[in-house]
Parts: sequence; structure tokens; C-alpha cells
Amino acid sequence: MPVDPLRDASGVDEPRILIVGLGLIGGSLAAALKAAGFGGEIVACDPDADEIERGIGMGVIDAGGGELATLVPGSSLIVLAVPVLAMESVMRELAPLLDEQVLTDVGSTKMAIRRAAERVFGALPARFVLGHPIAGSEKTGVAASNADLYRRHKVILTPEPDTDRDAMARVRALWNACAADVLEMDVERHDQVLARTSHLPHLLAFSLVDTLARQDERLDIFRYAAGGFRDFTRIAGSDPVMWRDIFIANRDAVLSALDDFEAGVTRLRSAVAAGDGDRLLATFDRASHARHYFDTLLNQTRYQAMEQRNVRYRVSPGGNVSGAIRVPGDKSISHRSIMLGALAEGVTQVQGFLEGEDSLATLQAFREMGVAIEGPHQGRVTIHGVGMHGLKKPAGSLYVGNSGTAMRLFTGLLAGQAFDTELTGDASLTKRPMDRVAKPLRQMGAVIDTAEGGRPPLRIQGGQSLKGIDYDMPMASAQVKSCLLLAGLYAEGETRVREPAPTRDHTERMLNGFGYPVGREGDVAWLNGGGRLSAGPIDVPSDISSATFFLVAAAITPDSDLVLEHVGINPTRIGVINILKAMGADIELLDEHEVGGEPVSNLRIRYAPLRGIDIPVDQVPLAIDEFPALFIAAANAEGTTRLRGAEELRVKESDRLQAMADGLGVLGVANTLYADGIDIVGRLEGEGSDGPSYAGGHIDSLGDHRIAMAFTVAGLRASGEIVIDDCANVATSFPDFVGLACRVGLGVNEEGA
Ligand code: S3P
Repeated sequence: MPVDPLRDASGVDEPRILIVGLGLIGGSLAAALKAAGFGGEIVACDPDADEIERGIGMGVIDAGGGELATLVPGSSLIVLAVPVLAMESVMRELAPLLDEQVLTDVGSTKMAIRRAAERVFGALPARFVLGHPIAGSEKTGVAASNADLYRRHKVILTPEPDTDRDAMARVRALWNACAADVLEMDVERHDQVLARTSHLPHLLAFSLVDTLARQDERLDIFRYAAGGFRDFTRIAGSDPVMWRDIFIANRDAVLSALDDFEAGVTRLRSAVAAGDGDRLLATFDRASHARHYFDTLLNQTRYQAMEQRNVRYRVSPGGNVSGAIRVPGDKSISHRSIMLGALAEGVTQVQGFLEGEDSLATLQAFREMGVAIEGPHQGRVTIHGVGMHGLKKPAGSLYVGNSGTAMRLFTGLLAGQAFDTELTGDASLTKRPMDRVAKPLRQMGAVIDTAEGGRPPLRIQGGQSLKGIDYDMPMASAQVKSCLLLAGLYAEGETRVREPAPTRDHTERMLNGFGYPVGREGDVAWLNGGGRLSAGPIDVPSDISSATFFLVAAAITPDSDLVLEHVGINPTRIGVINILKAMGADIELLDEHEVGGEPVSNLRIRYAPLRGIDIPVDQVPLAIDEFPALFIAAANAEGTTRLRGAEELRVKESDRLQAMADGLGVLGVANTLYADGIDIVGRLEGEGSDGPSYAGGHIDSLGDHRIAMAFTVAGLRASGEIVIDDCANVATSFPDFVGLACRVGLGVNEEGA
């Protein structure tokens, strides 16, 4: 019984297999079959008697010799594993000896071998299945045989329309037994694909090593050659005869691959000569992203891998904050910059882009729909817009990570495309309501399937003709508004969205900035479908939602004095400033100006004692993401803070009312929870401003980035250490939060990152 569930030879029903040419490839096939428990006999034919002897000694083959005439009779399946140019003479020798045997080969080029077979047999025999295992090693000879060489590697078979089915099934079974993944392709395509993915890289490796080896100082070069040289040239140690044959046999496809490569090198050469850093960066960025993407395909992972990490924060009690910092770019604007940049005509240059996991997932999703995007590199992204109808159907589902914004905006945008799509997200997003967008989109004519309860994944059928609607939003949601406006771009007529309270208007501002008129009549935002977007530069301000954690840190800690630079102060986002000011915070707006249609300012905040307030309901949508941090401010304010009309907090990345109430309870902060809000009892009147406000404790952030960051800030006024679990998702909105927090004076350590 084979011990390996993947490698299992029970499907190989051959009394005797003959391997012609006992080198690495043939030897490894024999070794894999033996390891898989193959019960028949394996014999080999090779002119080198030493190789045969070694193969028998290693237990890889049972017998062998140098004469085909003695080995072919009695063999049921013959594998040709000789160099490509030796195939024809071997076939000639075989032809008169064959009766019912199945024939296959392992040559790296297929057209030349088919032609050779046609010359020898008159036509490719129906029982000759051409094949190519995509596996190898720079090592040669039967001594290097490796029973695992084909495990999880692809084997390409290139059958012809008249290839015998039984022969095909038997060759398939042979490779399946070695744990290989067998696939089929036609001969021409095989040779073109391999010319680019295998033959060209080998040619370059041989050439680079040879060029350097000819130079006088070669000893030094090789002595000091480090990782790059070693990685790039490993395959230059491969079998020279085999590779000579491949390049002769696959000449045309290799020449065309080489032409493309030479053109690329010439472009890079001229960029180097001209000192053109932008061009170099653009090429390297594109290549680097393509390489990373390729890795994720090979490993079949995406950003999902990030969900597995259990990151824990340990926050030392006490301290205060000071200095000047710039927090990362605005998440809402970053998502929208990629979406609109992709749909625009022309090239959009973005600076200040948030390199958080969620906006990177959005960027990746557009790459998967065929949009060329360079970067991000230090917040700079270049998007080569494809126009309103230029997106392409992605190969698989689009993964948007933790981001409700991305999923809802994408749904609107994808409802208007000609192709079908599926949207998926992480575990937290999969619990969030999507009916709020699916229902009005269906009214517009979209066809959208959700999982039970209107949750992700969402399946969106393309090719629908959408019609504009006049929609009264039942909740104040910028995501729903933006989703419908994006669908409205593709709809016939006018799309009108009425909001019960003002919500962030970044979509409207950016559309207008891209030359697409969006009207506003009181509480209604509207646009007409069928227009075009023209690319333009986007300067993403720092995210006020990220700045909030530091505003609160300074607001609650005596002796703090902090400047937060270049923060977006769009009037639909400044609820946090209004609420903190109403609580008595000392906040100054310095150097207010506008960048790319969005107002920005430096925010200076100094400690001042806070008092509890009833938070005005009209401020709730304007501070919707800031409540976790504001609750920490409330826990440090004198008296009680009351919040109502905030039921939306229950459907964010976590149920934020519950998560905060639980966490505050752990620290000993009295609070009462309501369906749509909370009362938080802060410091006692007359208690003075010094000393801790609450205890330390162990908090579960429930994987919600803002809960994790809020309790980190709470540490400044705790009497003991605060330990926060499940903090990996901080990276979705605020990469290097811990680094910046430590820089301004917080004592936080990250474990398990
Ligand atoms: C966002 C809108 C808000 C907010 C979210 C970002 C946006 O969500 O909470 O973090 O970019 O449009 P809702 O529209 O659900 O309130």
C-alpha cells in the first residue's frame, strides 16, 4: 500500500514500462512510480551501462540494457526520455519493434517531436501521446533521480484529434501516479508558452553566466556573487545537450520570445542611460506586482492569509503625547481614487494613497480586471484608465478583504458592466448586510444574488440595462449613496439619491473633479448616466478617522501637545472635531487650504479637561467611524456622555456599540447600552484631572481595527497594562499605527505580527 495519498500507482495497469534514456527525468519517473507502489516491472534502455547499473543499484529500475530490440518485446508502455534531437533516431530504431505498445515522451518541445514522428511513421501514431512534465533540476543523471520531482507539478499532454483514448488514459494514469497535475494543450500553444516561461529564462541564465565567466576578473565576480546572481543563474547549470536540442527544436517560438525580451531590455537600457527614474520605477513596479501576484496564484493565497495572524497589542499605562506627525491617507478617498481612475480616460496620478490592506485589495481587484496600475510606492499610484467600458472580466472572484466600502461601491460599479462577477471578503465582511445596496440596485435593473440574509458573497450578472431611479435612503450611508451613483453612471436617465442626513461626499467631489457633473439639490445628490470621466491628479489627504486616535490621545492626557499634518477636514467628516470641541477640547485648525477639491488643515491639539455631553444627533453621520475613540474620550470626561441615533454602529466591522461597552466594562468604566447608543459615565465631578481614569485589563478587539486602536489610546489613562487581542486588521486602515503611536509617546508593543 502506498503511504502517500497523492502518489498512488493503483491506476497504472502496465505489466512492464520501458524508459528509453535513463537520466534525471526518466529516472525520477521510475523512482516516483516505485514510491507510489507500482507493481509491474520497470526497465530502462540507455547506451551508458554505468547509468543502467546505477539505476538498478538505487532500486529505481528492475533491469535494463543498451539494446532496444531486447527490451521492447514484453513492454506495454514506452517512455522516450532522450534529448529532443535524439528522438528521431530512437523512433527509427523502435518502429520495426513496436506492436501494441503505448508510446509517450517527455520532450520539452512538441512540434519538432511531432514532425520527427511524422517522418519516421508517416503520421503521428494514434497510440503515441506526446507529453511534457514541467519539472526539472539543474542536476543530471540517474543519480539525481527524485521521486518527488513531479509532485504537484504540471504535466502537459498534447493529444491530436485522433489520439487513441485508451493510450491517452494510460499516459494520464502514469503521471497521476506521480502526484502530477495533468493538463492538455495543443502542440503549437505548448511550444509558444514554454518558449517564454522556460526556454527564454534558460537562455538568459546561460548567457549571463557565460558573459561574466569570460571576463578577466571572473574569479572575483563569482567569489562575491551573492543572492541575486545565484537565484538568477541556478538554471545555467542544466544539461547543455538537452538545452542545445531544445533551442534548435523550438527555434521560431524562442526567437519571437527573444525579440520581445530584447525590446524590453532596450527600453530599460535607454531609461538607465537617460537617468529616467520614473520609467525605471514604472517598469520595476509593474514587474514587482506581477511577480507578487504570480506568487499568490502559485500558492493559491491572497490577502486571506492575513486573516490568520493573531496580533496582540500590549499597552503600558500612562504617558502623554507630543510632536508632529502625518497619519496615512484617507481610506474612503483612496478606494475611490482607484475606482474612478480606472474608469477614466487617461492617466491618473495619485499621491498620499493609503497603503492599507483594504485599499490594496481594491487596487488588486482592478488589476484583475485588466487595469494597469503602477505602485503604490510611498503613496504614489499611477492608474492607466481604461474608460467607462474598458474593464475586463476577471479570471476569478474579486476579494475585497475587510472593506464594506469596497464591496458596496464595487457592487454598484459592477452592476453596470458587460460581464459577470463575484465579490467576496473576509470573515467579518461576510457577516455584513449587503441588501442595502442589492435592493435599490435591483430596482435599477441589476441582477444580484446574495448569500442568506443578504450577506456576501455577491454574484452580479453583467449585461443588464440599468435605469436611473429616485431613491430615498432608509439610513444615512455614504456607501449606499456612492454605490447608486456609480451604478447611475451606467444607467439610462437620472439617478437621484436622497439622504436622511448629510454623509461624506467624496464620490460626488471626485466625480466632479473628473469632469462628470453631479448635482446637489438640498438632500438629493443626482447625476445622469452615459457620461465620461477624464483622468486628473488626486492628492489624498491624511485620514481624519486615523487622526482621531491621536486627537483623543492628546485630548485626554495632561501635558499633551500634538500637531497632525495635512488632515482632510471635509465638512461631512468633521463630526469628531465638533464633538471633541463641545466636550471642551482645545483644537486649532492651522493652514487651512484645499487640495484637489478636498479641504485640508494641520490640527493642533493640546490637553484641556473634557466634560461629558449629549452628542448632537446631526453629528452622528459626520463622525460615524470615530465613535470607538470618542467613547474613550467620554470615559475620561467629567460626567456622563450620551449617544443616540447611532444604530449603524452595530453593523460596522464589528457591533461597535457592544464591543466598546464590553471593553469599557473590562476597564471598569460604567456604561449603559441602548439599541441605538450608549451612556458612558466618565470621571467623577471634582476628581481633578490627574491620575488614572480606569483600570487595565484584557480586551478582545473582535478583529475590528478601530476597536483595537481606541483601546490602545485608552492606555494613556489606565492604572494597569491593557492587552488587546486580534489586532491584525489595524493594517487594513492604518499601516504602522504602532510605530507612529510609539513615536508620539504611547507605550505599545506588538506581539505575533
Ligand atoms: C464610508 C462610509 C461609512 C464609513 C466607512 C467609509 C465610505 O460607511 O463608516 O468607513 O467610504 O463611503 P456607511 O456608508 O455604511 O455609513
